[in-house]
Amino acid sequence: MIERVLAIETSCDDTSVAIVDRSGWVHSVVSASQDLEHEAYGGVVPEIAARNHSIALIPLIEEAFKKANMNWSDIHGISVTNRPGLVGALIVGLVTAKSLSQAKHLPFLGVNHLEGHLLAPFLKDAQYAPPEDFDYPYVGLAISGGHTSLYHITALGEYRVLGATKDDAAGECFDKFAKMAGLGFPGGVKVDQMAKQGNPHAFEFPRSMIHDDTFDMSFSGLKSSGQRMIQQLGPEQVKAQLPDLCASFQEAIVDVLIAKLDRAAKVFKAKRVILTGGVSANSRLRARAEEWAAKKGLRLVVPPLRYCTDNAAMIGYVGALRMARGESSQIDLGPSPHALESDFK
Ligand code: KG4
Ligand code: ZN
Repeated sequence: MIERVLAIETSCDDTSVAIVDRSGWVHSVVSASQDLEHEAYGGVVPEIAARNHSIALIPLIEEAFKKANMNWSDIHGISVTNRPGLVGALIVGLVTAKSLSQAKHLPFLGVNHLEGHLLAPFLKDAQYAPPEDFDYPYVGLAISGGHTSLYHITALGEYRVLGATKDDAAGECFDKFAKMAGLGFPGGVKVDQMAKQGNPHAFEFPRSMIHDDTFDMSFSGLKSSGQRMIQQLGPEQVKAQLPDLCASFQEAIVDVLIAKLDRAAKVFKAKRVILTGGVSANSRLRARAEEWAAKKGLRLVVPPLRYCTDNAAMIGYVGALRMARGESSQIDLGPSPHALESDFK
Protein backbone atom coordinates (compact mmCIF):
# COMPACT_ATOMS: atom_id res chain seq x y z
CA MET A 1 0.00 0.00 0.00
CA ILE A 2 1.25 3.48 -0.81
CA GLU A 3 1.39 5.47 2.41
CA ARG A 4 4.25 7.87 1.81
CA VAL A 5 5.82 9.45 -1.26
CA LEU A 6 8.80 11.54 -2.24
CA ALA A 7 7.56 14.45 -4.35
CA ILE A 8 9.34 16.68 -6.86
CA GLU A 9 8.11 20.00 -8.28
CA THR A 10 10.02 21.87 -11.02
CA SER A 11 7.27 23.29 -13.23
CA CYS A 12 8.35 26.93 -13.13
CA ASP A 13 11.11 28.69 -11.18
CA ASP A 14 10.89 27.03 -7.74
CA THR A 15 12.69 23.74 -7.17
CA SER A 16 10.88 21.85 -4.41
CA VAL A 17 11.04 18.40 -2.80
CA ALA A 18 8.76 16.95 -0.11
CA ILE A 19 8.02 13.77 1.79
CA VAL A 20 4.27 13.46 2.32
CA ASP A 21 1.82 10.89 3.68
CA ARG A 22 -1.47 9.92 2.08
CA SER A 23 -3.19 11.61 5.04
CA GLY A 24 -1.71 14.94 3.91
CA TRP A 25 0.90 14.99 6.67
CA VAL A 26 4.05 16.76 5.45
CA HIS A 27 7.21 15.23 6.95
CA SER A 28 9.44 17.71 5.13
CA VAL A 29 9.27 20.24 2.32
CA VAL A 30 12.35 22.06 1.08
CA SER A 31 12.53 24.54 -1.77
CA ALA A 32 15.02 26.70 -3.63
CA SER A 33 13.79 29.99 -5.08
CA GLN A 34 15.36 31.38 -8.25
CA ASP A 35 13.97 34.90 -7.90
CA LEU A 36 17.44 36.46 -7.86
CA GLU A 37 18.51 34.67 -11.05
CA HIS A 38 15.45 35.93 -12.96
CA GLU A 39 15.18 39.41 -11.47
CA ALA A 40 17.55 41.00 -13.98
CA TYR A 41 15.26 39.84 -16.81
CA GLY A 42 12.02 41.00 -15.16
CA GLY A 43 10.47 37.55 -15.54
CA VAL A 44 11.19 33.82 -15.57
CA VAL A 45 13.68 32.76 -18.28
CA PRO A 46 12.84 29.10 -19.07
CA GLU A 47 16.37 28.02 -19.93
CA ILE A 48 17.81 29.52 -16.75
CA ALA A 49 15.00 27.90 -14.71
CA ALA A 50 15.83 24.45 -16.12
CA ARG A 51 19.54 24.85 -15.49
CA ASN A 52 18.99 25.92 -11.89
CA HIS A 53 16.62 23.02 -11.22
CA SER A 54 19.33 20.62 -12.37
CA ILE A 55 21.77 22.17 -9.88
CA ALA A 56 19.36 22.40 -6.92
CA LEU A 57 17.34 19.20 -7.16
CA ILE A 58 19.60 16.41 -5.86
CA PRO A 59 20.84 18.40 -2.83
CA LEU A 60 17.19 19.21 -2.02
CA ILE A 61 16.25 15.52 -2.16
CA GLU A 62 19.03 14.77 0.32
CA GLU A 63 17.86 17.64 2.53
CA ALA A 64 14.22 16.46 2.44
CA PHE A 65 15.30 13.03 3.73
CA LYS A 66 17.49 14.58 6.40
CA LYS A 67 14.78 16.95 7.64
CA ALA A 68 12.23 14.14 7.79
CA ASN A 69 14.80 11.87 9.44
CA MET A 70 13.97 9.21 6.87
CA ASN A 71 15.61 7.15 4.14
CA TRP A 72 14.50 5.34 0.98
CA SER A 73 13.07 2.43 2.98
CA ASP A 74 10.36 4.83 4.24
CA ILE A 75 9.23 5.76 0.71
CA HIS A 76 6.61 3.83 -1.30
CA GLY A 77 6.44 5.90 -4.47
CA ILE A 78 7.60 9.03 -6.28
CA SER A 79 5.27 11.83 -7.29
CA VAL A 80 6.38 14.41 -9.83
CA THR A 81 4.80 17.37 -11.61
CA ASN A 82 4.78 16.63 -15.34
CA ARG A 83 2.15 19.19 -16.48
CA PRO A 84 1.40 22.04 -17.05
CA GLY A 85 4.54 24.15 -16.94
CA LEU A 86 7.75 25.12 -18.70
CA VAL A 87 8.77 21.98 -20.59
CA GLY A 88 12.52 22.37 -20.02
CA ALA A 89 11.93 22.91 -16.31
CA LEU A 90 9.50 19.97 -16.03
CA ILE A 91 11.98 17.64 -17.77
CA VAL A 92 14.53 18.07 -14.96
CA GLY A 93 12.09 16.89 -12.30
CA LEU A 94 10.56 14.20 -14.47
CA VAL A 95 13.84 12.61 -15.57
CA THR A 96 15.08 12.65 -11.97
CA ALA A 97 11.85 10.99 -10.77
CA LYS A 98 12.07 8.32 -13.49
CA SER A 99 15.71 7.57 -12.71
CA LEU A 100 15.01 7.25 -8.99
CA SER A 101 11.97 5.11 -9.71
CA GLN A 102 14.13 2.70 -11.74
CA ALA A 103 17.04 2.70 -9.33
CA LYS A 104 14.91 2.24 -6.20
CA HIS A 105 12.28 -0.05 -7.75
CA LEU A 106 9.47 2.29 -6.78
CA PRO A 107 6.40 3.33 -8.81
CA PHE A 108 6.20 6.93 -9.95
CA LEU A 109 3.30 9.15 -11.02
CA GLY A 110 3.20 12.29 -13.16
CA VAL A 111 0.89 14.81 -11.49
CA ASN A 112 -1.02 17.87 -12.72
CA HIS A 113 0.42 20.93 -10.96
CA LEU A 114 -2.99 22.63 -10.75
CA GLU A 115 -4.51 19.62 -9.01
CA GLY A 116 -1.78 20.10 -6.41
CA HIS A 117 -2.82 23.72 -5.85
CA LEU A 118 -6.50 22.73 -5.57
CA LEU A 119 -5.88 20.08 -2.90
CA ALA A 120 -3.25 22.08 -0.96
CA PRO A 121 -5.74 23.01 1.83
CA PHE A 122 -5.73 19.34 2.95
CA LEU A 123 -2.00 19.40 3.81
CA LYS A 124 -1.04 19.23 7.49
CA ASP A 125 2.04 19.83 9.61
CA ALA A 126 2.93 20.87 13.15
CA GLN A 127 1.77 24.45 12.47
CA TYR A 128 -1.14 24.02 10.06
CA ALA A 129 -4.20 21.84 9.62
CA PRO A 130 -7.39 22.61 7.73
CA PRO A 131 -10.52 23.28 9.83
CA GLU A 132 -12.08 20.01 10.99
CA ASP A 133 -15.20 20.52 8.88
CA PHE A 134 -13.18 21.14 5.71
CA ASP A 135 -14.04 18.62 2.98
CA TYR A 136 -15.34 18.33 -0.58
CA PRO A 137 -17.22 19.96 -2.27
CA TYR A 138 -15.74 23.45 -2.48
CA VAL A 139 -15.13 26.32 -4.86
CA GLY A 140 -11.43 26.98 -5.52
CA LEU A 141 -9.72 30.04 -6.96
CA ALA A 142 -6.16 29.30 -8.14
CA ILE A 143 -4.28 32.56 -8.65
CA SER A 144 -0.58 32.74 -9.45
CA GLY A 145 1.95 34.10 -11.90
CA GLY A 146 0.86 31.57 -14.52
CA HIS A 147 -2.80 30.84 -13.81
CA THR A 148 -6.01 32.47 -12.66
CA SER A 149 -8.87 29.96 -12.73
CA LEU A 150 -12.00 29.13 -10.83
CA TYR A 151 -13.03 25.51 -10.12
CA HIS A 152 -15.73 23.47 -8.48
CA ILE A 153 -14.03 20.59 -6.68
CA THR A 154 -16.26 17.67 -5.67
CA ALA A 155 -13.81 14.77 -5.07
CA LEU A 156 -10.28 13.61 -5.87
CA GLY A 157 -10.01 13.93 -9.66
CA GLU A 158 -13.38 15.68 -10.00
CA TYR A 159 -12.60 19.24 -10.92
CA ARG A 160 -14.89 21.34 -13.02
CA VAL A 161 -13.31 24.43 -14.58
CA LEU A 162 -15.82 27.23 -14.17
CA GLY A 163 -13.77 29.97 -15.79
CA ALA A 164 -10.31 31.41 -16.22
CA THR A 165 -8.52 34.50 -17.36
CA LYS A 166 -8.79 35.05 -21.09
CA ASP A 167 -5.35 36.60 -21.22
CA ASP A 168 -2.89 37.47 -18.43
CA ALA A 169 -2.81 35.79 -15.03
CA ALA A 170 -3.43 38.06 -12.03
CA GLY A 171 0.11 37.45 -10.72
CA GLU A 172 1.64 38.34 -14.08
CA CYS A 173 -0.39 41.54 -14.04
CA PHE A 174 0.93 42.40 -10.55
CA ASP A 175 4.49 41.61 -11.66
CA LYS A 176 4.33 43.68 -14.88
CA PHE A 177 2.83 46.63 -13.05
CA ALA A 178 5.53 46.41 -10.37
CA LYS A 179 8.23 46.29 -13.04
CA MET A 180 6.82 49.34 -14.85
CA ALA A 181 6.56 51.20 -11.55
CA GLY A 182 10.21 50.40 -10.78
CA LEU A 183 9.47 48.00 -7.91
CA GLY A 184 11.47 45.01 -9.26
CA PHE A 185 10.60 41.32 -9.72
CA PRO A 186 8.60 39.43 -8.54
CA GLY A 187 6.56 42.49 -7.79
CA GLY A 188 3.25 41.21 -6.37
CA VAL A 189 4.44 41.32 -2.81
CA LYS A 190 6.01 44.77 -3.32
CA VAL A 191 2.74 46.18 -4.71
CA ASP A 192 0.97 44.63 -1.71
CA GLN A 193 3.34 46.32 0.77
CA MET A 194 3.29 49.67 -1.01
CA ALA A 195 -0.52 49.61 -1.23
CA LYS A 196 -0.88 49.44 2.54
CA GLN A 197 -0.23 53.19 2.79
CA GLY A 198 -2.29 54.06 -0.28
CA ASN A 199 -5.86 55.00 -1.15
CA PRO A 200 -7.52 52.26 -3.25
CA HIS A 201 -9.86 54.81 -4.82
CA ALA A 202 -7.26 57.41 -5.80
CA PHE A 203 -6.95 56.20 -9.41
CA GLU A 204 -9.52 54.71 -11.80
CA PHE A 205 -8.58 51.31 -13.24
CA PRO A 206 -10.79 49.05 -15.38
CA ARG A 207 -12.47 45.94 -13.97
CA SER A 208 -12.99 43.97 -17.20
CA MET A 209 -15.71 41.31 -17.32
CA ILE A 210 -16.68 41.96 -13.70
CA HIS A 211 -20.38 42.12 -14.49
CA ASP A 212 -20.67 39.56 -17.29
CA ASP A 213 -22.49 36.35 -16.55
CA THR A 214 -19.51 33.99 -16.93
CA PHE A 215 -16.75 32.99 -14.53
CA ASP A 216 -14.10 34.21 -16.96
CA MET A 217 -11.77 37.10 -16.28
CA SER A 218 -9.45 39.40 -18.22
CA PHE A 219 -6.50 41.38 -16.89
CA SER A 220 -4.71 42.57 -20.05
CA GLY A 221 -6.80 45.77 -20.21
CA LEU A 222 -5.85 46.54 -16.63
CA LYS A 223 -2.19 45.92 -17.42
CA SER A 224 -2.28 48.33 -20.39
CA SER A 225 -4.18 50.88 -18.35
CA GLY A 226 -1.50 50.68 -15.63
CA GLN A 227 1.19 51.18 -18.25
CA ARG A 228 -0.59 54.24 -19.70
CA MET A 229 -1.09 55.72 -16.25
CA ILE A 230 2.59 55.30 -15.40
CA GLN A 231 3.65 56.90 -18.72
CA GLN A 232 1.25 59.82 -18.31
CA LEU A 233 2.33 60.57 -14.77
CA GLY A 234 6.06 60.38 -15.47
CA PRO A 235 8.75 59.07 -13.10
CA GLU A 236 8.54 61.88 -10.50
CA GLN A 237 4.77 61.66 -10.04
CA VAL A 238 4.82 57.86 -10.09
CA LYS A 239 7.32 57.90 -7.24
CA ALA A 240 5.32 60.47 -5.29
CA GLN A 241 2.02 58.65 -5.75
CA LEU A 242 3.26 55.06 -5.65
CA PRO A 243 1.18 53.96 -2.62
CA ASP A 244 -2.05 55.31 -4.18
CA LEU A 245 -1.19 53.83 -7.58
CA CYS A 246 -0.45 50.40 -6.10
CA ALA A 247 -3.53 50.44 -3.86
CA SER A 248 -5.81 51.41 -6.76
CA PHE A 249 -4.30 48.88 -9.16
CA GLN A 250 -4.49 46.11 -6.56
CA GLU A 251 -8.10 46.99 -5.72
CA ALA A 252 -9.13 46.49 -9.37
CA ILE A 253 -7.72 42.93 -9.35
CA VAL A 254 -9.23 42.12 -5.95
CA ASP A 255 -12.67 43.47 -6.97
CA VAL A 256 -12.76 41.16 -10.01
CA LEU A 257 -11.58 38.09 -8.07
CA ILE A 258 -14.14 38.62 -5.27
CA ALA A 259 -16.96 39.23 -7.77
CA LYS A 260 -16.19 35.97 -9.60
CA LEU A 261 -15.87 34.03 -6.35
CA ASP A 262 -19.18 35.42 -5.20
CA ARG A 263 -20.87 34.37 -8.42
CA ALA A 264 -19.40 30.84 -8.22
CA ALA A 265 -20.38 30.43 -4.56
CA LYS A 266 -23.94 31.47 -5.40
CA VAL A 267 -24.37 29.31 -8.50
CA PHE A 268 -22.91 26.20 -6.83
CA LYS A 269 -24.48 26.91 -3.44
CA ALA A 270 -21.03 26.46 -1.97
CA LYS A 271 -20.41 26.25 1.77
CA ARG A 272 -16.62 26.22 1.44
CA VAL A 273 -14.26 28.31 -0.64
CA ILE A 274 -10.48 28.16 -0.98
CA LEU A 275 -7.84 30.52 -2.32
CA THR A 276 -4.58 29.03 -3.57
CA GLY A 277 -1.54 30.06 -5.64
CA GLY A 278 1.04 32.76 -4.93
CA VAL A 279 -1.35 35.70 -5.29
CA SER A 280 -3.47 34.38 -2.42
CA ALA A 281 -0.65 35.76 -0.23
CA ASN A 282 -1.99 39.22 -1.09
CA SER A 283 -3.04 40.86 2.16
CA ARG A 284 -5.82 42.95 0.63
CA LEU A 285 -7.30 39.93 -1.18
CA ARG A 286 -7.19 37.89 2.04
CA ALA A 287 -8.86 40.65 4.06
CA ARG A 288 -11.57 41.26 1.46
CA ALA A 289 -12.18 37.53 0.98
CA GLU A 290 -12.49 36.99 4.75
CA GLU A 291 -14.92 39.88 5.05
CA TRP A 292 -16.95 38.56 2.13
CA ALA A 293 -17.00 34.96 3.42
CA ALA A 294 -18.07 36.07 6.90
CA LYS A 295 -20.91 38.12 5.43
CA LYS A 296 -22.10 35.19 3.32
CA GLY A 297 -21.65 32.59 6.06
CA LEU A 298 -19.04 30.68 4.03
CA ARG A 299 -16.03 28.75 5.32
CA LEU A 300 -12.95 30.28 3.66
CA VAL A 301 -9.71 28.30 3.75
CA VAL A 302 -6.42 29.83 2.60
CA PRO A 303 -3.49 27.46 3.19
CA PRO A 304 -0.34 29.03 4.65
CA LEU A 305 1.99 30.63 2.15
CA ARG A 306 4.36 27.63 2.05
CA TYR A 307 1.49 25.54 0.61
CA CYS A 308 -0.06 28.33 -1.54
CA THR A 309 3.03 29.09 -3.58
CA ASP A 310 4.62 26.41 -5.76
CA ASN A 311 5.72 23.54 -3.51
CA ALA A 312 6.26 19.80 -3.73
CA ALA A 313 4.08 18.96 -0.69
CA MET A 314 0.88 19.48 -2.69
CA ILE A 315 2.28 17.30 -5.50
CA GLY A 316 3.11 14.60 -2.94
CA TYR A 317 -0.40 14.63 -1.50
CA VAL A 318 -2.03 14.21 -4.93
CA GLY A 319 0.49 11.51 -5.89
CA ALA A 320 0.01 9.56 -2.65
CA LEU A 321 -3.79 9.56 -2.99
CA ARG A 322 -3.70 8.53 -6.63
CA MET A 323 -0.97 5.89 -6.25
CA ALA A 324 -2.86 4.44 -3.28
CA ARG A 325 -5.77 3.82 -5.62
CA GLY A 326 -3.49 2.01 -8.07
CA GLU A 327 -2.37 4.68 -10.48
CA SER A 328 1.21 4.91 -11.77
CA SER A 329 2.95 6.30 -14.85
CA GLN A 330 4.88 4.48 -17.53
CA ILE A 331 8.57 5.14 -18.09
CA ASP A 332 7.88 6.91 -21.42
CA LEU A 333 5.79 9.65 -19.75
CA GLY A 334 6.73 13.08 -21.12
CA PRO A 335 6.34 16.62 -19.83
CA SER A 336 3.55 18.81 -21.18
CA PRO A 337 3.06 22.58 -21.24
CA HIS A 338 -0.70 21.96 -20.92
CA ALA A 339 -3.01 20.07 -18.61
CA LEU A 340 -4.64 16.97 -20.12
CA GLU A 341 -8.23 17.30 -21.28
CA SER A 342 -9.09 14.44 -18.92
CA ASP A 343 -7.69 16.37 -15.93
CA PHE A 344 -10.81 18.53 -15.76
CA LYS A 345 -14.52 18.13 -16.42
O1 KG4 B 1 2.16 30.22 -7.13
P1 KG4 B 1 3.39 31.04 -7.38
O2 KG4 B 1 4.45 31.04 -6.30
O3 KG4 B 1 4.11 30.62 -8.69
C1 KG4 B 1 3.43 30.44 -9.92
O4 KG4 B 1 3.32 31.45 -10.64
O5 KG4 B 1 2.97 29.30 -10.17
O6 KG4 B 1 2.89 32.53 -7.65
C2 KG4 B 1 3.79 33.58 -7.91
C3 KG4 B 1 2.98 34.85 -8.17
C4 KG4 B 1 3.87 35.99 -8.66
O7 KG4 B 1 3.21 36.61 -9.76
C5 KG4 B 1 3.92 36.92 -7.46
O8 KG4 B 1 4.10 38.28 -7.79
C6 KG4 B 1 2.55 36.71 -6.86
O9 KG4 B 1 2.35 35.31 -6.95
N1 KG4 B 1 2.49 37.14 -5.45
C7 KG4 B 1 1.71 38.13 -5.02
C8 KG4 B 1 1.98 38.28 -3.64
N2 KG4 B 1 2.91 37.35 -3.29
C9 KG4 B 1 3.21 36.64 -4.42
N3 KG4 B 1 0.84 38.91 -5.67
C10 KG4 B 1 0.19 39.84 -4.94
N4 KG4 B 1 0.40 40.06 -3.63
C11 KG4 B 1 1.28 39.29 -2.94
N5 KG4 B 1 1.46 39.50 -1.63
ZN1 ZN C 1 1.63 27.15 -9.39
